[in-house]
Amino acid sequence: MTTLDAATSTEHGTDPDRYVATGYANDRAHVFHSWSAQGTLDPALIVGAKGSRMWDDKGNTYLDFSSQLVNVNIGHQHPKMIEAIKRQADRLCTVAPSMANDMRSEAARLITDRTPGDLNMVFFTNGGAEAIENAIRMAKIHTGRLKVLSAYRSYHGSTSGAISLTGEARRFDSEPGMPGAVKFFGPYLYRSVFHATTEQEECDRALEHLRTVVTNEGPDRIAAIVMETVPGTNGILVPPDGYLAGVRAICDEFGIMMICDEVMAGFGRCGEWFAVNRWGVVPDLITFAKGVNSGYVPLGGVAISQTIADTFKTRVYQGGLTYSGHPLACASAVASINIFEEEGIVEHARMLGDDLFGPRLREIAEKHRCVGEVRGLGVFWAIELVADPATKAPVDLAGTQRFAAACKQGGVWPFIAGNRTHVVPACNISVEDAHAGLDVIDQALGILD
Ligand SMILES: Cc1ncc(COP(=O)(O)O)c(C=O)c1O
Repeated sequence: MTTLDAATSTEHGTDPDRYVATGYANDRAHVFHSWSAQGTLDPALIVGAKGSRMWDDKGNTYLDFSSQLVNVNIGHQHPKMIEAIKRQADRLCTVAPSMANDMRSEAARLITDRTPGDLNMVFFTNGGAEAIENAIRMAKIHTGRLKVLSAYRSYHGSTSGAISLTGEARRFDSEPGMPGAVKFFGPYLYRSVFHATTEQEECDRALEHLRTVVTNEGPDRIAAIVMETVPGTNGILVPPDGYLAGVRAICDEFGIMMICDEVMAGFGRCGEWFAVNRWGVVPDLITFAKGVNSGYVPLGGVAISQTIADTFKTRVYQGGLTYSGHPLACASAVASINIFEEEGIVEHARMLGDDLFGPRLREIAEKHRCVGEVRGLGVFWAIELVADPATKAPVDLAGTQRFAAACKQGGVWPFIAGNRTHVVPACNISVEDAHAGLDVIDQALGILD
């Protein structure tokens, strides 16, 4: 930096570090946070991060076992990502969606190379909720039907259609929502609503229940069934083998579009490019965001089957966004997918799930009375915390808060969702760091036993 630059930057306040001192006070005075009672907040002021670690203004360093919102799949500040974003910023920061753009084209090619079946086209959005909005719009126009089914145990985003399809309680303050939004129960053996005692029973009964909902709602009125391939925030509920194929069969029987929401489950999280690939099922639409570029620049999208894309060959698609296919976001997606390939991140995530998280978390479950169940795959695991393993009564809020505080004290930033902690670090976390984080979680669980 030249003397002149330094003077200019001080004058105009472009040196970012000068805002650290006032960062917390200005947050509390002026920043309105998501999903929060504003007066109760005490957010950490994160000033830097690298790989699987982040640090705050007080000098505390944490192993990030949350990947922020389960999106920084490639870890923080990957040098090749930073370089790609800088290079694209120098070339072309922004361009209208009606223009073609080389980075958008390449991102779409790389993504559709990895989607299953004939999902050959991509509509880009700024994030996951917009991807859901556009996927359901496409399904409704394509089928000429109105209703959309989704699971009670789901989160699909907080825009108007996406929050209506969200099954968990966060939808309540947005109700009444989108007309034609209907809910069903997906499989979750540990707290089975079907009184099932085996995975197979749970699978069969969940499919029977879904068929009953479909037939009672009027199958020829249902445009789509939207489901998280592996429901994430609501508990990392890995579907039993056969469930997704069963949903696909119901959709095929009644001409319903199958939309798999892979905003959280996609791009390495489940040890696959797309989680559906694990079960060999081909949906009609896949929504993605988060791990597509680890949120370095906001990006999401919908991967579209050729059949649905063909509906809009001559018919205008009445949907769009000023920043659809933003060059900076797409350049970082291109960089991210190439880094995933070069560094074998999908394979690493699968190995971590099979050889490290799975075995160690099962060990941890054996050891602690407060662990009702552990479940997951890849780098996507839930530890269900219970006050009593016999009744499965969830640990209360004070309990999870004490657990979270103990993790932070030990240098691990946990992801807490209800009575669960989700073990969701970066998909390229090292074996040593993964063990170190689990050691801290293991110890923190002791306070709940
Ligand atoms: C499965 C799923 N779908 C959709 C969304 C919404 O994505 P966004 O917050 O980018 O709008 C999320 C966010 O957590 C998600 O987990």
